[in-house]
Amino acid sequence: MQQLANRHVLLGVTGGIAAYKSADLVRRLAEAGAQVRVMMTRAATEFVSALTFQALSGNPVHTELLDPRAEAGMGHIELARWADLIVVAPASADTIARLVHGRADDLLTAVCLASDAARAMAPAMNRLMWANPVTQDNVAALAARGWAIWGPGEGDQACGETGPGRMLEPADITARAAQIFASELFTGQRLVITAGPTREALDPVRYLSNHSSGKMGFALAREAVAAGAQVTLVTGPVHLASPERVTRVDVTSAGEMHDAVLQRAGDCDVFIATAAVVDYRPASPAAHKIKKDRDTMTVELVRNPDILAEVAALEHPPFTVGFAAETYAVERYAKAKLDAKNLNMIAANQVGGADSAFDADDNRLQVYWPGGYASIERASKNKVARQLLELIAEQLHKD
Ligand code: PMT
Repeated sequence: MQQLANRHVLLGVTGGIAAYKSADLVRRLAEAGAQVRVMMTRAATEFVSALTFQALSGNPVHTELLDPRAEAGMGHIELARWADLIVVAPASADTIARLVHGRADDLLTAVCLASDAARAMAPAMNRLMWANPVTQDNVAALAARGWAIWGPGEGDQACGETGPGRMLEPADITARAAQIFASELFTGQRLVITAGPTREALDPVRYLSNHSSGKMGFALAREAVAAGAQVTLVTGPVHLASPERVTRVDVTSAGEMHDAVLQRAGDCDVFIATAAVVDYRPASPAAHKIKKDRDTMTVELVRNPDILAEVAALEHPPFTVGFAAETYAVERYAKAKLDAKNLNMIAANQVGGADSAFDADDNRLQVYWPGGYASIERASKNKVARQLLELIAEQLHKD
């Protein structure tokens, strides 16, 4: 169930006896590698304690919409933005009805309304409540709006009756959650992705670098693998674990990144340059630690090779995607880079200031290609990566 690795799954638990099974669901999702957060309706807390979910998920449980402490930590909008997938399990008849009408007077319904994450529910209720045409209409309305409806199953019910209305088993729900992320966008395609900063030595103990954490590039690698690609990730020095099934090549300087990429770029279908490559390096790094015996010092810098431009200029270039990190005039500079480097696409983001993409968990992108534009709204880097890959696949497979 590798598709769930590192996914942000937000579990909504509503009031019903099946809520006890949701504890096992949290455990299974976490075992499959997902990061799980739980939100509960007030009725749900009557069946299972929030503490149970907190212990199993390793995260605080969210229960209140208007709780100043919760809003100061991860408020409902952040929670909505954090989620890659929202699963409401069990979904009671009442919550289903409230979701249909866009109610937002408790945390669960407000978060569902405010999120563009994939959404699924596992209904659980008495068989006659399920069969009631009102519930059937409500479920059909949600399905038409993109909700995945998982179940319910049939069998003995807690109320003593037998029939449809049982929540699906946690193992089944976990398998369906994994399926949500399965995609074949890049099946059989080879991608080379760069990530992180480079370091340019001044002397044996000091270097020039920048604030890149590698998170954006690693998210792209993870999502590309989930979409069926074979991925080589050439990364500068970062503190991130390798995504599963990715071939990782560690480098330090721009020169090393250049060599590692150029060895592989002629043989790949898509190249994505997410790395924040340091543009200039000291012309002659000192052999020994520089002593502070002068009030000022001047260091001569020389240009590093432009890896992205060289890949785009290959005789048979892959589909080449650059990033543009800008502090102002984002659109103007991004388009200039698209043209100057002869790229197939460029993804621009803001760096510096409060909205900086550097080292953040979220990002938003303006994406340009010859004759086209798309905007990817602020979301987790995983989600942003998935949307960027969809745009790349669209352009790559055009005509
Ligand atoms: O790593 P994170 O903390 O998650 O932050 C993500 C990010 C902000 C680093 C990322 O989203 C991003 O914007 N990466 C590109 C940073 C950058 O160097 O931008 P640039 O505008 O200076 O360079 C333009 C493009 O040329 C980039 O694709 C860059 O990888 C490439 N380049 C630049 C110089 C060089 N010598 N070789 C290159 O390949």
